[in-house]
Amino acid sequence: MTIRLRPVPRSGAAIEVDVCVNKRKTYTSCGERGGGTIAETLERGLAKRGLDITLRRRNCLGPCLNGPNLCIFPSVTWIAGAHLGDVPEILDLLEQLLNEQSAPDVAAAKPPSTSSPRTAPASSR
Ligand code: FES
Repeated sequence: MTIRLRPVPRSGAAIEVDVCVNKRKTYTSCGERGGGTIAETLERGLAKRGLDITLRRRNCLGPCLNGPNLCIFPSVTWIAGAHLGDVPEILDLLEQLLNEQSAPDVAAAKPPSTSSPRTAPASSR
């Protein structure tokens, strides 16, 4: 499996994953190499982990020779040559991306106000 990881933009856009399940006899395709089973297993894993990520089955993402292919949005992270055994790692990646996207933006956070002096609680005086 090859992953071309890209940073998740802080756009607030939902994370979605496209899985190619295309099955055709005339040319190599992801579905012929397990894309459908990967999609089903990923779907079950997303539900089991309670991850709010939409999975879409697609009929071709373009780079057919490298399949089974997946693409994660909005970061446009490509996963090529996936195998069924890669699903736990893909789920970990999706969970990580979801956590990173929902984490507070540290750079935009305001420092705590220093205008009012801290006082000890009444019980410790
Ligand atoms: S058949 Fe999967 S990318 Fe084309």
